[in-house]
Amino acid sequence: MSTRTIRQRVPALEVTEGAGVTVHRSIGTPALRNLDPFLMLDHFGSDNPDEYIAGFPDHPHRGFITFTYMLDGHMQHRDSMGNQGELMPGGVQWMKAASGVIHSEMPRQANGLMRGFQLWINLPASEKMSDPAYQEFSSAAIPEVALSAGKVRVLAGTFNGTRGVIEDPSTDVLYLDVALPANAAFSLPLDESRHAFVYVFEGSAQLAKDALSQHTLAVLDEGDTVDVTAGAEGTRFILVAGRPIGEPVVQYGPFVMNTRAEIEQAMADYQAGKLVQTRAAMSGH
Ligand code: CO
Repeated sequence: MSTRTIRQRVPALEVTEGAGVTVHRSIGTPALRNLDPFLMLDHFGSDNPDEYIAGFPDHPHRGFITFTYMLDGHMQHRDSMGNQGELMPGGVQWMKAASGVIHSEMPRQANGLMRGFQLWINLPASEKMSDPAYQEFSSAAIPEVALSAGKVRVLAGTFNGTRGVIEDPSTDVLYLDVALPANAAFSLPLDESRHAFVYVFEGSAQLAKDALSQHTLAVLDEGDTVDVTAGAEGTRFILVAGRPIGEPVVQYGPFVMNTRAEIEQAMADYQAGKLVQTRAAMSGH
């Protein structure tokens, strides 16, 4: 048994996205271009409508998955598959853009708190040009596991025998939202082969002997166990892990492929109105 320590701390940078939305980016910045299979992590959290009201009007994606976890607020999603989704507090959305999706993510509130995460998960070459797919679940559908002190929401993967709602077979993503009261401990066996990170968004905590602070992504080093202890005010964090793909990553904005030629094809397809290859509606909840 070896507990994982922190390999790298990545403070989230403020970035303007969409039509003028402020997000805090950790994965996908110069300090950490990607963490295979993860391409980007944006944390959004503001009660100032100027920072979110412009939303994300129609935009394309190709070659990967977007995984959105809403903590507070209300966003409406529409996509070229014909899906319309309402992202409400505690809800989760998994969108496999694969060969191509055009979608919008727009706020359905004029004020109040908007808070959550968007994670981009890469796809292996064999799936980059496959059909898009979509999964969406409301907060009530997400299983919660009670700890002796604290609780764990299982969004994807399995925790203590409880399986999350999102199925992510390509890289076996584990996505947990862990809430711990003051000084409580959390421990999780985690396959050595998985790349993993922790992002604290409330309170503070320690990973093994290393301090974890808010809005700083902690990349976990090798080991087979994750041990987190909450600080004096308790803590809430996401713990995410996935199987690395081990292929070249060539990214141009919302297109993530394996080669420069594939990126040029994606841009040409988009300009010619051919990015979206499958328009059939996919399953959603
Ligand atoms: Co998008």
